[in-house]
Amino acid sequence: MAPFPHLDPIPIPAPVWLMKALSLITLALHFSAVMIVVGSLLLVLCLNATGRRRRSEAHLSASYTLAKRLPVIMTWVINLGVPPLLFAQVLYGPAIYSSSVLIGVLWFSVIPLLMLAYWLMYRTVAAFDAKRSPAWQAFFALLVVLGIGQIYAMNMTLMLRPEAWQAMYKASPLGLKAPTGDPTTTLRWLFVMAGGPLFGGVWALLLSNMAYLTPGVQAALRRVGGWSALLGAALQGVLALRIVHAQPKVVGEALAGNTLFTVGGYAFLVTAALVALLGAFQALRGRGNVVIGTAGLLLAFVANAGSVVARDAIRDATLKAKGFDVWNRVESSNWSVVDLFLLLFVVMLGTVYWLLSVMRKATPPSEQVTL
Ligand code: HEM
Repeated sequence: MAPFPHLDPIPIPAPVWLMKALSLITLALHFSAVMIVVGSLLLVLCLNATGRRRRSEAHLSASYTLAKRLPVIMTWVINLGVPPLLFAQVLYGPAIYSSSVLIGVLWFSVIPLLMLAYWLMYRTVAAFDAKRSPAWQAFFALLVVLGIGQIYAMNMTLMLRPEAWQAMYKASPLGLKAPTGDPTTTLRWLFVMAGGPLFGGVWALLLSNMAYLTPGVQAALRRVGGWSALLGAALQGVLALRIVHAQPKVVGEALAGNTLFTVGGYAFLVTAALVALLGAFQALRGRGNVVIGTAGLLLAFVANAGSVVARDAIRDATLKAKGFDVWNRVESSNWSVVDLFLLLFVVMLGTVYWLLSVMRKATPPSEQVTL
């Protein structure tokens, strides 16, 4: 029996390279937003605990500065998750639809879990406003976010294992069981979550440059943000190497001669190392500026993009070894729709730029917390 359901009878409406390019860019943006959320929650907890232990208003205000932005960043996570989901469905439909159905209940539970995470983030901010510790709200928000990430990691690895599908369907036709037996699932999940300290760190470093923060708050954000970025980069580097070593032999051999994998992998390693250096520099020197802050964020994004390209090469090599070659999809491009899409994409970028410039001119909010 063929491992994958028959390919869709409708050809894909744009070239594979274009769909892939858009999917990779939007996925790198999605991962960046996920990592800012994970890292911000960790830093909120850490700065809040330090602030209360030392009775330091600067640390508490730094924690509040990060917490206040969480609900907005969650909207980025979701909105930037939708485009890669659509591209993945079009390109890998027979694989990703099958795995999603097989973990149906878990997959659907992402929606209530997202709502719970949002609520807990708003409660975190409300606790600060009411002069209470937001520790349990932020802690449970972090747990929920980690849980959602795990469901995504399960689905993205199960879609690569058609050999496991029949047994899973027999064991639970309702899709109640989580997949087991893939050595890369947990590593892949940990890799994205370890990006939390890295991206959350560079995010804190960027925010530390806001002129209306007191020098104490700026220093607290710089110190914790810098060390966090260094720790995240080290963790991600180790996990990346472990993921590559955990691949089956046939995939490892295919990756050895794969240019995209090599370029993506090295781009990740080099830029993650630069982020680590930049983080350590700012943590030790305690000084920074908008240029260094923006450079950190851009480097972290390039590291993400590199890892996303390498991850995509691993997926294609795995699926090809099992009889699904994404580059062989039948294509019938609908160029008028593609052109309209690209035009709207540019309009969207212009609108985002305009919104950001309006935001920059707005009256600064109050970020001070009293004990
Ligand atoms: C707090 C919420 C979320 C977290 C923590 C999260 C985390 C993750 C993680 C860890 C992965 C990588 C899995 C792997 O490769 O093993 C992933 C992939 C992905 N996520 Fe999210 N995610 C979240 C929300 C969303 C939402 C709401 C959407 C869509 C509406 C989304 C769309 C995607 C897609 C499409 C992929 C894989 C794309 C591909 O492989 O081409 N995510 N996410």
